[in-house]
Amino acid sequence: MIDQVSRDFDAGAARYDLLVALNPGYHNHLNRAATELISRLPGGSRLIDVGCGSGASTAALLRAAPSAPILGIDASAGMLAQAQAKPWPSWVRFLQGRAGCLADLIPGEQRPHGMLAAYLFRNVPADQRDAALADAHEVLADDGWLMVVEYSVAGRPRAEALWNLICRTVILPLATLTGGNPALYRYLQQSVLEFDTTAAFADRMVRAGFTDVAVATVPGWQKGILHLFRGRKDAR
Ligand SMILES: C[S@@+](CC[C@H](N)C(=O)[O-])C[C@H]1O[C@@H](n2cnc3c(N)ncnc32)[C@H](O)[C@@H]1O
Repeated sequence: MIDQVSRDFDAGAARYDLLVALNPGYHNHLNRAATELISRLPGGSRLIDVGCGSGASTAALLRAAPSAPILGIDASAGMLAQAQAKPWPSWVRFLQGRAGCLADLIPGEQRPHGMLAAYLFRNVPADQRDAALADAHEVLADDGWLMVVEYSVAGRPRAEALWNLICRTVILPLATLTGGNPALYRYLQQSVLEFDTTAAFADRMVRAGFTDVAVATVPGWQKGILHLFRGRKDAR
């Protein structure tokens, strides 16, 4: 089923790369998340990039682990088409699918050891987030790691005020100037304001079965706004 979020991403897909290129630090933060994830895994580990979009996060995984098999998954056909139009080595593949349905999509013998979900979970409705995290936990191989990159400002008034200021003065004007889909960027502002507190999302990870759950913010202008969450699937 195509939902409104996928339709909005389809509509904004062609301009997505341009807009993230205008976001200082976007690729650095993805590189940081990918490198931290890979540093926890044995060489040659299978990787999955859930909500891979136009492939920016997939490229970060590939930079961190140049020979690892990577599967990018996204719900939006338009975003996937952007990703697939780029040159990739044969061991990077893409598939249309939804967070929350990964266990049905990925055969047991292809379970990934590492999963990156960059800027995805905010787009998963709050009442489906626990199930999506439980599905991520189920699909990971034992001792695998999940790395989540996500904005969260709830419960921190200074971060919330800074986010609103950045949206008003930078993100929304740039989206309009570059011909992006303004509805998508208004949605971006609102979805960040409404996303879980960092503690609440970390609790969801624990409830889904992850251990060694930790959260850290990034340096730079997104400090306190953008966070990396990680958790391990304990071998039982
Ligand atoms: C903000 S983009 C991030 C793309 C990429 N990870 C990056 O770092 O540039 C979020 C992506 O998540 C996808 N998405 C949203 N909800 C999803 C879901 N439930 N399952 C899979 N993909 C989803 C959207 O289609 C979109 O491509």
